[in-house]
Parts: sequence; C-alpha cells; structure tokens
Amino acid sequence: MQKTIALVMGGDSGEYEVSMQSAVMIRKNIDPTQYIVYPILIRGRNWTYTTDQGLVFHINKNDFSLQIPEKKVVFDAVFIAIHGTPGEDGKLQGYFDLMRIPYTSCDLTVSALTFNKYFCNDLAIQYGMNVPATVLLRRYDAIKPEAILAETGLPCFVKPNKSGSSCGVSKVKSADELEQAVANAFKEDDEVLIQQFIEGRELACGVFRYRNEVIVLPITEIVSKKEFFDYEAKYTSGLADEITPAPLSADQTKECQQLTEFLYNKFNCKGVVRFDYFLSQDKFWFLEVNTVPGLSEASLVPKQAAAKEIPISKLFSMLLEETLKK
Ligand SMILES: Nc1ncnc2c1ncn2[C@@H]1O[C@H](COP(=O)(O)OP(=O)(O)O)[C@@H](O)[C@H]1O
Ligand SMILES: [Mg+2]
Repeated sequence: MQKTIALVMGGDSGEYEVSMQSAVMIRKNIDPTQYIVYPILIRGRNWTYTTDQGLVFHINKNDFSLQIPEKKVVFDAVFIAIHGTPGEDGKLQGYFDLMRIPYTSCDLTVSALTFNKYFCNDLAIQYGMNVPATVLLRRYDAIKPEAILAETGLPCFVKPNKSGSSCGVSKVKSADELEQAVANAFKEDDEVLIQQFIEGRELACGVFRYRNEVIVLPITEIVSKKEFFDYEAKYTSGLADEITPAPLSADQTKECQQLTEFLYNKFNCKGVVRFDYFLSQDKFWFLEVNTVPGLSEASLVPKQAAAKEIPISKLFSMLLEETLKK
C-alpha cells in the first residue's frame, strides 16, 4: 500500500526560495512506488495545493485534509521542507501534533529550543561544548557598543537570534559598524546576538536515526570565498568550496562525528539534522544545529549522503519509514 505524504514547503522567512528548492529535490526523488506526494505551499494563513494543471485547492486546517474533485485526501505523514518559521521553529510541529499526523522533523520543544540560537547555545554549553562568547539584545535594550565589544572583541558576528541561511548576519570589524549591523539583524527577528568571531575551519555534519541506529554522515568543510559563508556564498555556485569528506585527520573526523552523534542524542533530535562547527586550534566549537537542513541539489546533506553511498531517494525513504513507524 502506498502512503500519502504532504510535502510542506514555502514558509514565511527569508528562506522561502531555499525551501522551494528543497521541495523540488524531494518531489523528484521520493520513491513513487512507496509514496504519493502532494506538495502543499504554506504562506501565512494560505495553505494550498496546486495541481499540475494549475488548479488551486485549500487545505482544510481543521484536520489538515484536502478536498479535490475525486476525493478527500488525508495524509499518513508530513515531510517538512520549510526552513525557518513556521517549519523549523516548532509552530507546525505543534499543529501536526494536534492533528495527530507524524512528521519528519524534531518535535515542537526541540525545534523551538534549537531554533533559538541563544537558548541552544546555553544547552550546548551544558553539554560541554565550546561556544563563542555571546551578547543577547532585545528590542528594548539600549545598545552600549563598548560593553558589548568588551565581551565579544572585534571582529564580531551580529545575527538574528532566530533565522537561517545567513539572513541578517554580518561580520563587524570596527565599533562604528555595530549599530548598523544590529539594525540589520533586527529586520529578521526581535532578538539579536553579537558573538565572538571564531577564526577556524568551518564544518558541517549531517545525522539521522534509522532503525534505532544513529547514522552520522561524512563531514563537509566549507571554504567560503566571501568574507564568511553568507547567503550569496551559500547559494551561488563557485562562491564556496564544499569539500566532502572534509580533509581532516582521522582523529579529528572521529571526534567531530562522535560529537555529532552525542549532540543528536542529547538534543533528542528526530529526522535528519545538520550540526555546524568551527575547528579552531584543534578544538571544536559548536556553531548551530539545523533541524530542517537544506535538501536541495546544492545543499550539504544530499552531498554527504552521496559520499556515504546513500542514494538520495533511499535517504528520503529511510526518513519516511522512521516517521511512519508507530
Ligand atoms: N561566531 C562566529 N565566528 C565566525 N564565523 C561566524 C560566526 N557566527 C557566524 N559565522 C559565519 O556566518 C555564517 C552564518 O551564521 P549562522 O550562525 O550559521 O547563522 P544561519 O542560521 O543564518 O546559518 C556561518 O556559516 C559562518 O560562516
Ligand atoms: Mg548556519
């Protein structure tokens, strides 16, 4: 029996385009003998399914069903392909819990906690990670550059507390750039982080659980040709070298992959997740966790799966099998 899957895509953040690219990849590669996929675009309160002929149908939010002329479609599971809000921050997770429909990502609590970089860093510190010194600003806080920079030093990174794809992130090299960078980050979120700059090698490691085993993918090293791994470097080919597997020593590779498995369990993650790190003076620093990592043609996790000889369609089947298990 084929299972009916809702592929939710779009969302309400600067990562809309990236989400649409992930959805293209998922739709193209999900095994059609096992799954029937309905792409559902979520934009604010507008949740729609568009047929190949261009007919638009609205989701019934009372039970997340779809009335199309032939039938009422109900879903066995949801493949969440929305990066940023509302797909990565717990909002849709809460809704699907209420609807009693399983989904591919971490649960509400884990999604909300890890999407909040400040809370996530506090937990990572408790779990023994090295984390850059960080100052949190809320909208009503006065900005005191001297006090902030005394904590973080220069250069520093300014970023929205809840965002992704480097939207609103800037590297600040002098005190007089700070206020503009903070204003820029406040466009994305109502909380802003100012962070110590970690000079080191940037690494990313995907991980998922399958049949009670945590499968850690090969690590990718990111060498950005821009000042840092900004939006342009992430999504313009040629602006960053992404080397998989990362050219680390055997010991470094082992340590990073063990760290990734440890954190996956500690944070109680579900589905495929990507942990990002810096390697600086032979120490790993925790940067962030992406609980709905990019799955487009250009994204890291598909490349890491390929490097481990897991075809992408197989990865999607594994994730859906786990989701549908109960
Ligand atoms: N503390 C830091 N030190 C050095 N580089 C950083 C730091 N914070 C962020 N960056 C750079 O900015 C990029 C985006 O920051 P990140 O915290 O991962 O936000 P996002 O969730 O938008 O990806 C990183 O990939 C890295 O290149
Ligand atoms: Mg990042």
